[in-house]
Amino acid sequence: MPSVNVTPAARPTLEDMPDLSLAAVVRAAAERLALSGVPDPLVDAELLAGHALGARRGEIQAATVRGDRVDAAVAEAIEALVARRAAREPLQHITGVAPFRHLELAVGPGVFVPRPETETVVQFAIDALLASAETEPVGIDLGTGSGAIALAMATEVPHARVFAAELSPDAYAWARRNTEGVENLTLVNEDLAHAFRELDGTASVVISNPPYVPDAAVPRDPEVRLFDPSLALYGGEDGLDVVRVLSARALELLRPGGLIVLEHGELQGEAIRTILTQDGWRAAATHRDLTLRDRATTAHRP
Ligand SMILES: C[S@@+](CC[C@H](N)C(=O)[O-])C[C@H]1O[C@@H](n2cnc3c(N)ncnc32)[C@H](O)[C@@H]1O
Repeated sequence: MPSVNVTPAARPTLEDMPDLSLAAVVRAAAERLALSGVPDPLVDAELLAGHALGARRGEIQAATVRGDRVDAAVAEAIEALVARRAAREPLQHITGVAPFRHLELAVGPGVFVPRPETETVVQFAIDALLASAETEPVGIDLGTGSGAIALAMATEVPHARVFAAELSPDAYAWARRNTEGVENLTLVNEDLAHAFRELDGTASVVISNPPYVPDAAVPRDPEVRLFDPSLALYGGEDGLDVVRVLSARALELLRPGGLIVLEHGELQGEAIRTILTQDGWRAAATHRDLTLRDRATTAHRP
């Protein structure tokens, strides 16, 4: 596991920099982040400089090529952000936003940061809603976190009615902020085991990116281990406790032929297909993500 401690002697500081060109500030930031084990130090350095300056990453890259200079106050502001990232606080907590498909979601302490892998998983749900013959197909996101999946469905399939449940009050507050004003989306602060009884038998799609990490498999990345909420990560001894609940509950929520979409870890596809098939689901199939790892399993309600 990469160390999160930075050796003071090795860490470049503003005093080490003879000039305050933006390029030098970004280079020093990237060096510091690299020493802290941050996976993409230059990308994060550019994004943090952009956050401090209110500029996009491409604008920061252009400014470094031009040789733009920054004053000491700006350099210090960037250094303060970099110090937080060097302590392995997630980039998205520092900037306050996480990109997800065409969306920018507000995120921070108490909510799971949406991941790029989920962007491809949600496509199964969007395709099923678009293919539905119903005038207002119903899509349900169970364990919505920041609201990412629900918002993608609601905005990309505007004729759908979307429902989202989140148990954690902290995560619910972020989802509420992100979904405010989205008229075809209903959000509740409830346990997914009981939410939306009134929709039983009506949904075209139930999707979830549930907590699926086995309790003993503590994640290595400090960003995940220290900042993602436990309720978002851990799913019991084999990681599949919530999946079992979802299988039972989605059978009640879906109309005949409706689709369940479950995101999961790369080694869990077979176990999840077994759970679904034993519960009576049809055509359980596991799908890979862009890195060719098993990432999602779908099945149809008989
Ligand atoms: C892995 S996170 C996924 C969040 C979001 N759907 C995403 O993909 O970014 C799992 C979410 O499920 C929520 N959760 C866990 N158990 C739940 C339950 N019993 N009922 C409702 N939500 C639950 C967690 O609080 C967390 O927000």
